[in-house]
Parts: sequence; C-alpha cells; structure tokens
Amino acid sequence: MKITLKVWRQKNAQDKGGFKTYQLDDVSPDMSFLEMFDVLNEQILKKGEDPVHFDHDCREGICGTCSMYINGKPHGPKQTTTCQLHMRSFSDGDTIVVEPWRAKAFPVVKDLVVNRSAFDRVIQAGGYVSVNTGGVPDANEIPIPKKIADEAFDAATCIGCGACVAACKNASAMLFVSAKVSQLALLPQGQVERKTRVEKMVSQMDEEGFGACSNTGACSAECPKEISLENIARLNREYLSAKSSSDNV
Ligand code: SF4
Ligand code: FES
Repeated sequence: MKITLKVWRQKNAQDKGGFKTYQLDDVSPDMSFLEMFDVLNEQILKKGEDPVHFDHDCREGICGTCSMYINGKPHGPKQTTTCQLHMRSFSDGDTIVVEPWRAKAFPVVKDLVVNRSAFDRVIQAGGYVSVNTGGVPDANEIPIPKKIADEAFDAATCIGCGACVAACKNASAMLFVSAKVSQLALLPQGQVERKTRVEKMVSQMDEEGFGACSNTGACSAECPKEISLENIARLNREYLSAKSSSDNV
C-alpha cells in the first residue's frame, strides 16, 4: 500500500508545531499503525533527521499509552487502541492525518507525545483502600453478586488512554474518572473511603483543567474499552450523595 502521512511535528511544549508530509510506498496491510510508524522512523533516521516521537508500551491494547488522533478520531477509525489498529483499515493511496491529543490538561511534550500525568494525579487523589482483604483467596471469599462484580470489572477495564478526553469537545475527563470511581464504589472493599474518594477525585479533575461533561456521549463512542456512560451517571450520584453529607461543601 502507498500511504501519505501528514504528521504533527512539534519540537517541545513551547514550539508552535505544524504538519509535515511523509510518503510511504511499501506498507503491508497487516502492519499495525505503530509498526507503520516504525517503518516511517527508519526512513527518517536514514536521512539523519529526528524521528517522530510517539508513546507506546505493551502494543497489546492493555497499557493505554498509544494515544494519537488519526483522521480526526482518537485512536483512528476503529474502536480500538492505536497499537491494535491495522493498516488494512485504510485504503491504498490514502492520506492519513495524525495529531497528538488536544486538551489543556494534556500538554504536548513532543510531536505526538502528550503529558497525561493529570490522570495519575486524579488516581492518587482518590487515595487507597484501607480494607485489608488478605491474599487473593481471602478476597474472593467476600460474596459479591455476579451483576455487581461484572459492573465493577467493566469499569476497571479502563486503561487510562485519554481517548475520552480527546473525543470530548470540552476535553472532559468524566468517563475516565467515573470508571475509576465506579470500580471501587460498587465493591464492599471500596465502601470505607467511598465518599472522600469521589470528592477528592472530582476536585483534582477540576484542578487539572478538564472541562465539564458535554453530554454528547462522544467519550464512550470512542473508548477502546467501551466504558459505559452509566458510569458518568453513577459518578454524579456518588458525588451528590457525598456532598450532601460532607463537611467540605
Ligand atoms: S474511559 Fe475509555 S477512553 Fe477514557 S481513558 Fe478509560 S479506556 Fe481510555
Ligand atoms: S501500546 Fe499499549 S495499549 Fe497500545
């Protein structure tokens, strides 16, 4: 396949940045999008130029780092991570436009790499679970109805990639935060810190500069792990209930 790439190049956070066009003449349809970038970088390195910087780690769809905006969609045309997107999703002769996530809370570090440590600080603000459940067999002795366990597990599958933020016109982090709040609020082990956790995580989310929920559902539609909007409704209920009995009104 012949592919034309328009890639956002930006030297650092201060640089204005801009698109640069590259031509690839021998792309296999079975390459992942990141493998195609590896081939591009080999080509750039051979010319003695600076390769395109992008984030990746597991390349198995589990770490959540391969963040890229591809043809105007987070992670590209399929509802999957960029590392699991294959070139057969495109056509021979296509021009593909690649940009970093665009959100105030995710400043560009270089090229396609953004700083997503705001997500880490939201998680840290949530604190820890003080219930000591012992080893795995002990934890599994706590009876949890299947429906609840499934809901908690579904929320826990969020990989923190940030596509929800990138998809939202307000750059809201509500889907991510709601998934992280839900996975513990639903389980007995998460009850002790339930109220303080949601208060602190929402407060940190606001402090980081994420916008309000736009109610458009773009986040869930683009989420590679299909995190449900029901989590956002639960987050709102959790927050209201915590605030109604809180000292930090
Ligand atoms: S909710 Fe979905 S899109 Fe958002 S960070 Fe988690 S996995 Fe990524
Ligand atoms: S590189 Fe880990 S999810 Fe894509």
